[in-house]
Amino acid sequence: MFDFRRTYDCRTLNKLHIGEKVTLSGWVNKRRDHGGLIFIDLRDRFGLTQLVFDPKLSLSIHEKASEIRNEWVISIHGKVIPRAEGMVNPKLSTGEIEVQVEELEILSKALTPPFSICDSTIDVNEETRLKYRYLDIRRGDVSSKLVMRHKLMLAVRNFMDSQNFLEITTPILCKSTPEGARDYLVASRVYPGNFYALPQSPQIFKQLLMISGMDRYFQIAQCFRDEDLRADRQPEFTQIDIEMSFNTPEGLFEICENLMQHIFQTCLGIDIGAPFPHMSHKEALEKYGTDKPDVRFDMPLVRLDDIVQKSTFSVLLEELKNEGVVKALCVKNGAEISRKQIEEYESVVGKFGIKGLAWMKKSPEGFTSSIVKFFSEDLLKEIENRMNVENNDLILIAAGPQDRVNQGLDHLRRHIARQRNLIKENVFEFLWVMDFPMFTIDKETNDITAEHHPFTSPNFEDMHLLDKDPLKVRALAYDLVLNGYELASGSQRIHDSALQAKIFKLLKFSDEDLKAKFGFFIDALKYGTPPHLGCALGLDRIVMILTKTENIRDVIAFPKTQKASDVMLQAPSPATSQQLKELKLKAEPEKIAWP
Ligand code: AMO
Repeated sequence: MFDFRRTYDCRTLNKLHIGEKVTLSGWVNKRRDHGGLIFIDLRDRFGLTQLVFDPKLSLSIHEKASEIRNEWVISIHGKVIPRAEGMVNPKLSTGEIEVQVEELEILSKALTPPFSICDSTIDVNEETRLKYRYLDIRRGDVSSKLVMRHKLMLAVRNFMDSQNFLEITTPILCKSTPEGARDYLVASRVYPGNFYALPQSPQIFKQLLMISGMDRYFQIAQCFRDEDLRADRQPEFTQIDIEMSFNTPEGLFEICENLMQHIFQTCLGIDIGAPFPHMSHKEALEKYGTDKPDVRFDMPLVRLDDIVQKSTFSVLLEELKNEGVVKALCVKNGAEISRKQIEEYESVVGKFGIKGLAWMKKSPEGFTSSIVKFFSEDLLKEIENRMNVENNDLILIAAGPQDRVNQGLDHLRRHIARQRNLIKENVFEFLWVMDFPMFTIDKETNDITAEHHPFTSPNFEDMHLLDKDPLKVRALAYDLVLNGYELASGSQRIHDSALQAKIFKLLKFSDEDLKAKFGFFIDALKYGTPPHLGCALGLDRIVMILTKTENIRDVIAFPKTQKASDVMLQAPSPATSQQLKELKLKAEPEKIAWP
């Protein structure tokens, strides 16, 4: 039998190996028939090695090689020889040599793939790539990201181990873990009509592990959330989940900062500075319109309510009358921006319900725009000073309900920064966003709900507001933000069962509901609970940043589509009638049109 065990992978051979007999196995990347000689680029996940088949050496092997097609799997025995003069390829680690084939075995033939594997620069529609994900991974782009993912996970495990954290696996079949999304449910056969929920996060388990005295826990954990998907959200994703006892937020920040330093050093060889700056949630919303500001570039949002109030600009005054706000941003050297371009900016903010943008340009003669007439000289001067407007700058003004103005201008700010190349390459701007509100109003149900999750401790200074004005209570919660991504979220936990029960009550859990859903947890808190805190970092998002992609699906081997399906597996799919019978369930499955 042909011995296909490799003596080298396809990236290693160089001129130091000349004369050596080797065995190589892999995929045919490309075959070139030069009349006399046949060349094959042999590929594995490490690299490429050129094979040469010389008819003068063996006519039968040469003939066999001429049948070979791209993506066939072959194995060869051969001798390393230098490439002919002028044929050296400096771009390849193996570019100085080739392997003269003495024996050839075809291990597996291949159908013509649905897209080019050897040229990963050819654009292929994502649905097709996901349908044939195993071939997509073979193209190299995704596989290099999976290599980075592995490096990251290894770095995390090494670092956390060095800090005395234990990785503990928590269940996947469990009960609702409230993180604000819908649960994925799994039917029980043994208890028909009952369901497990897949964990939205290991939150409850890690807190129980603190009550168990495990002290320092971490886990690279799979989480499942049925929620609207975005470019940085998957229904099934991975967290670096952390919890610790007898510590303070400062202690946790230091661990996370050191972890991030270790990750960037190990994975990219880059030193990132620490400690990371802090910004209050309030300031983030005021200055950037979002709780995850990208501070790699300037262009803050500036409030103009008071100035507009003194103007005669009726459209904006009307918005203020309706309890709206007026905010603006200044585009440096933006005076050359055309009306057409401003219309495009209006469509960006329009998606968030902002009706239009007012604008002014600054020239040495003063502001120019059709809206200047609504402002006195003094008011224009005030705008100029507050926004640091210089000659050739453009200011864009939006008015409306605060949420919409913030969202619209946050998107516009990032849109303009990308368009005008204001974002510096290879800059990593970390930021802790602090002092989140404890509660918020759910837009769908209009009910009060936890901004983070219901196990978060209120800020002790705001305890007196809990009953009177809960929406004013700040939480001891914090987010880690990097370049506009929310990388992590965490909080100090409630470790007092009475306070925990009170928070659940404020969140409108009935006694019955509370007992059924979290009775065990309230009980557990009564058995000696250490003060504890923690956070979870989105592992997929860190890989996205390390590999410079804006698409979370690029960093997951087998991701779901934007519509939470797997087009390769064709999942979800109907259960068989036997399965439904065993589960005592009835179903009328919707037909899914698979590509
Ligand atoms: P949170 O819900 O904020 O907190 O999640 C923590 C981090 O996980 C990442 N993340 C996601 N990544 C990809 N797809 C998703 N659908 C998705 N949802 C969240 C984000 C986020 O910052 N139990 C708490 C943490 C704690 O309090 O310790 C929790 O899960 O990067």
